[in-house]
Amino acid sequence: MTAATETPLALYIHWPFCRAKCPYCDFNSHVAQEIDHTRFAAAYRREMAHMAAHYGDGRKLVSVFFGGGTPSLMPPSLVAGTLEDADRYFGLSSDVEISAEANPTSSEAAMFEGFRAAGVNRITLGVQSLRDVGLGFLGREHSAADARAAITAARRSFSRASIDLIYARRDQTLADWEAELNEALDLGLTHMSLYQLTIEQGTIFHTRSRRGERLVPTDDLAAEMYEATDDIMTGAGLPAYEISNHAATGETCRHNLVYWRAQDWIGIGPGAHGRLNAPGGRLGLATRRSPAAWLDAVEANGHAIDIVTEDDREASVAESLMMGMRLADGVPLVAMDTRFGPRASWLDEDAMARYIAADMLEIDRGNLRATRAGRLLLDGMLADLLPDHPPAG
Ligand SMILES: C[S@@+](CC[C@H](N)C(=O)[O-])C[C@H]1O[C@@H](n2cnc3c(N)ncnc32)[C@H](O)[C@@H]1O
Ligand code: SF4
Repeated sequence: MTAATETPLALYIHWPFCRAKCPYCDFNSHVAQEIDHTRFAAAYRREMAHMAAHYGDGRKLVSVFFGGGTPSLMPPSLVAGTLEDADRYFGLSSDVEISAEANPTSSEAAMFEGFRAAGVNRITLGVQSLRDVGLGFLGREHSAADARAAITAARRSFSRASIDLIYARRDQTLADWEAELNEALDLGLTHMSLYQLTIEQGTIFHTRSRRGERLVPTDDLAAEMYEATDDIMTGAGLPAYEISNHAATGETCRHNLVYWRAQDWIGIGPGAHGRLNAPGGRLGLATRRSPAAWLDAVEANGHAIDIVTEDDREASVAESLMMGMRLADGVPLVAMDTRFGPRASWLDEDAMARYIAADMLEIDRGNLRATRAGRLLLDGMLADLLPDHPPAG
């Protein structure tokens, strides 16, 4: 067994369609009049077979994630067939986590049993807000009552259910957000992803904010909301295990941990990304973004890989630090030494000492991690932690 075969492998499957495009969203999602599900099923199968043969390395999958777009619009038979293919081409490990993103409309909640029967064992619901005024501002198609009903249905069908909420919305006060978050906690969920609204290039919100409309609160209020979120979630027994992700003990999302630990994953579907450890660095794969171009390329070539990048050691160090420091556990120093060589070659130890003295970093059980103050200023800190000119390691 090579070193690579010991690294966990995950599979991401991108479903690129939604009922409507939300004004804040820059994900690769499209509104289509007609979708040829049979063509999609065959193309997923072919691209999966290609990826397994070239990059799977004989490893079974520890996680499969249907992301989007809106995967809850997929027919359950397509989910079931795609999972059978994943088992055939890669193999599913005995305790595989199989997640799907879902929108909380009633028609999609009606599909939950079909998704469970297909093999999905974890659902993540894009609730976004428990307030109708918040949902209206975000341009969502569902109401707060729909969201609550979908959460109840999700909890009936799945032992593991998570919700996404977006906070730091225009006109939201700190007290509003605290009340909304406490109501969400009353629903008894064991995992929540809590995102601050970000204005992404190319979105309707971006155009509106460039025209001068205020869509997010001041940085100071957003930081206060972040700290209040941390306090409330920690107090409720769902501390942050990553900047925006909170879970009860044992309920972390294995798939997302693969990303943050810079482990290996393969992506299939339009605009899906994969990253794999390779000798000397890290391989990046990206498929064609447009659903039509992706289908054509897979039918012609067996895959739609459009971009292949090979990161050198320096870029791999940066990825491991940048992703790993988002985690509450931080990065394991000795494992990083084993992977990247002498510590001074991948970490600016003077900068680390300065940030430890400033109470923004700490070393806890051999892991370098950001304190709460450090997490608020992570990007600037990371730039300082990477050595300028790493000596050969
Ligand atoms: C792929 S998207 C959504 C999945 C599903 N289609 C939905 O809308 O419920 C994953 C999550 O990213 C978050 N998200 C997307 N754009 C965002 C933005 N601009 N700011 C903050 N969170 C965002 C939302 O919480 C969303 O549920
Ligand atoms: S937030 Fe979800 S439903 Fe809205 S456009 Fe993005 S992926 Fe589609």
